[in-house]
Amino acid sequence: MSQTAPTQDELKTLVAQAALAYVVPGEYLGVGTGSTVNKFIDALAHSGIAIKGAVSSSLASTERMQSLGIPVVDLAMVERMSVYIDGADEIDPKGHMVKGGGAALTREKIVAAQADRFICIADASKNVAVLGAFPLPVEVIPMAVPEIARRFKAMGAQAVLRAVNGQTLVTDNGQHLLDVKGLRISDALSFENAVSQWPGVVTVGVFAHQRAQVCLLGTPQGVQTLVY
Ligand code: A5P
Repeated sequence: MSQTAPTQDELKTLVAQAALAYVVPGEYLGVGTGSTVNKFIDALAHSGIAIKGAVSSSLASTERMQSLGIPVVDLAMVERMSVYIDGADEIDPKGHMVKGGGAALTREKIVAAQADRFICIADASKNVAVLGAFPLPVEVIPMAVPEIARRFKAMGAQAVLRAVNGQTLVTDNGQHLLDVKGLRISDALSFENAVSQWPGVVTVGVFAHQRAQVCLLGTPQGVQTLVY
């Protein structure tokens, strides 16, 4: 019998299911955004695990959870969560990540900052030696977009304003997004510190301060648990 390698979609389903082991019944849970998290939300809804409430990182995740009967609470009601579960676009050997492919980076960083542990769920393609091959999302106040793009150009990178169906994307927070190509981010903490200081930057999609403590990585051999 011939065996075919699992698809990226199947690997996402695998890690989404594995993440259920990190959910603490009866507590608040931080929930991220994206296609991997969508699978986690579906798995949670069918798991029978009762949580006190989910703190959502996007309107999209809120809608999905509510439609499946998962109670969603406002972050203002919650001081700390023990666990935040989210995907990533890239994750390096220190648990530093690039995030924001789904345009939800700002709320993701806010919710993650109030959680004790970030559990990253990702297929093996996201595991990289150095961050930067995936275009780095940066949420920017619209009037600052040209200057922020110039600053990246001066670093040898190219910033492109994100558009969907020919229309400039507007985030859940009413801002714009630059996707920055041509970066090689070997010191993620310093990079995050520096770009976060640029006037007009709302959030840079490098998650070094809010790094993952655990990554559940979906590989053809099964779920690998990486602890940072
Ligand atoms: C959402 O803004 C992102 O940070 C996602 O976590 C990231 O893009 C991973 O998404 P997928 O699970 O869809 O690959």
